[in-house]
Amino acid sequence: MNRTSRTRSTVGIVGGGPAGLMLSHLLHRAGIDSVTVDNRTRAEIEQTVRAGILESDSVRLLVDTGVSDRVLREGHPHDGIELRFGGVGHRIDFKGLVGESTWLYPQTDVFIDLAAARQRAGADVRFGVRGTRVEDLLGERPRICFTDSSGAEQVVECDYLVGADGSRSTCRHEIPEAQRRQFSREYPFAWFGILCEAPHSAPELVYAHSDRGFALISQRSETVQRMYFQCDPDEDVDAWSDDRIWQELQARVSGPDGFSLKEGAITDRTVLRFRSFVCEPMRHGNMLLAGDAAHTVPPTGAKGLNLALADATVLAEVLERAVRTGDKDVLDTYSPRAQSRVWKAQHFSYWMTSMLHTIPGATDFDRRRQLGELSMVTGSEAGSRFLAEAYTGWPQTASRRG
Ligand code: PHB
Repeated sequence: MNRTSRTRSTVGIVGGGPAGLMLSHLLHRAGIDSVTVDNRTRAEIEQTVRAGILESDSVRLLVDTGVSDRVLREGHPHDGIELRFGGVGHRIDFKGLVGESTWLYPQTDVFIDLAAARQRAGADVRFGVRGTRVEDLLGERPRICFTDSSGAEQVVECDYLVGADGSRSTCRHEIPEAQRRQFSREYPFAWFGILCEAPHSAPELVYAHSDRGFALISQRSETVQRMYFQCDPDEDVDAWSDDRIWQELQARVSGPDGFSLKEGAITDRTVLRFRSFVCEPMRHGNMLLAGDAAHTVPPTGAKGLNLALADATVLAEVLERAVRTGDKDVLDTYSPRAQSRVWKAQHFSYWMTSMLHTIPGATDFDRRRQLGELSMVTGSEAGSRFLAEAYTGWPQTASRRG
């Protein structure tokens, strides 16, 4: 029979995605040790296609805390986006309106940089584990129990435990139902996402509203592009040939200005479902939740990864204070601080989604109103600035005041 190995650590982190690894990195800089475990292998996480836009504060976090400056060399600053409706493009000039840019840098690369930084620092990060469960969250010795990738039983005993285990979090369900409030909104559509081998169709991202539905023209590199179009949540990817996909995308962006997409071989196609979701509170005893485990947003506006990194920043600060002072009451400051940003991002993601998608069952009134809304945003500096400020991200300090 296998003997169970025990490890002591100040912080135990379930989930080695961006939230978990960034937290582990920031704690390390504060002299606090942690162990991170993830059911997925490092290769599996690297192969997951996720969104690709970073707020400037997320870029500064990666660079200034020494994760990597690769984002500055290989990422691309985008000083604005284009909103298209009625077949006409309207640029929102982030730089001119709020003095900030966003960066095109895929989440996969953020993960690669974080995993490499943690490895360089000799961190204890265990990928590819099985049967993870957490115990004794209200007691003195919270534990993460799991079977490691070699089949050995492991227990990590810690003072503080963090659930950064993604949207299907098991940690979240440790908060008793009577104390857990969940807020969610479902959408009657999904995104059909493709990767294709083609040059850029536009210098910046294009968010297109059309009678046929929403489309987003994003990028990955000079030669690989990422595009999405609104579809039914039950859409069958196999029903879509390359030709049919290109026809649909072209129809959604076409207009009197003659804009069209540069086509190429489609190398990946997936239907992405999403919902708006928030769990409160983000603390239960000695366990704290971070990232998708606590909240998810629809992808319109690319807030998910940025929120995860913002959670990690606040949580690292709160944990550092708790560890230094031994005062566990400071853990109560985490949830309200994190949530003030979360709800702004929830509103923004919901707003962008409902403004840009066609809503099944919408009346003529609804459709005309939507165009009125888009005209207000693109036709006034105040409207454009509102979008630019939210898209580029709110300053970290604002989260203290709400
Ligand atoms: C992406 O590049 O995958 C992406 C970009 C912007 C979004 C969502 C996804 O709003």
